[in-house]
Amino acid sequence: MSNKTAPVAAIVVAAGSGSRLGYPIPKALVEVAGVPLVRRAVDSLVEGGVSRVVVVAPDGHLELCASLLADVAVPVDVVVGGAERQDSVRLGLAAVAEADVVLVHDAARPLVPAHVVADVVERVRGGARAVVPVLPVVDSIRAAAGEGSRVVDRAGLRAVQTPQGFDGALLRDAHAHALAAELVVTDDASACEALGEPVTFVTGHREALKITDPFDLLVAEAILRTRE
Ligand code: C5P
Repeated sequence: MSNKTAPVAAIVVAAGSGSRLGYPIPKALVEVAGVPLVRRAVDSLVEGGVSRVVVVAPDGHLELCASLLADVAVPVDVVVGGAERQDSVRLGLAAVAEADVVLVHDAARPLVPAHVVADVVERVRGGARAVVPVLPVVDSIRAAAGEGSRVVDRAGLRAVQTPQGFDGALLRDAHAHALAAELVVTDDASACEALGEPVTFVTGHREALKITDPFDLLVAEAILRTRE
């Protein structure tokens, strides 16, 4: 597909428990500087050019999520998630069945800069069918092997972020295939790759960090202070 003006739908997966964060509520509802992660994630996508959003929410929290997103500038639907991230994406996809350009974003990456979102959109609109934002790996990496370990050359490694952007038909095929083949994937580009589809990189951003533990919340608050 090459369509410079195709509208962009985004699926925001927010149905995880986020137990590592240590809060009694789902991670996506935890606030950073007074605003829940899921709301910040949606706002970042809208600022980057997304025109429709489906939020995949934890069971029992649909109404709360909808109320948190009531005044977003684009149409937002809230649907219930599944047991694994992959299930949640598939459930979200069902709600954007007609979209030609689909982004999939983790609510756990609330501060992705709008220009990264816009880059992903531009590449998909330009004809790339599976686009992922990536960053080089800065740490030395070792692969644990039994009692020992071996160093891995980090030069060729990339850390993968979201939003990932797709040709909508490809993403639907990829998730249908993953389900039928009982393939477990931790991101959506991998599901496309399983169909033989090449993946296109764009440059990610450290501010798109994934909020996983309390330290990440401190970093996110510091980032927001620099944006004031
Ligand atoms: O657990 P982790 O942080 O890797 O999850 C990545 C994203 O996937 C989070 O935004 C989380 O809410 C979402 N997720 C989901 N449904 C699940 C598990 C995770 O929507 N069953």
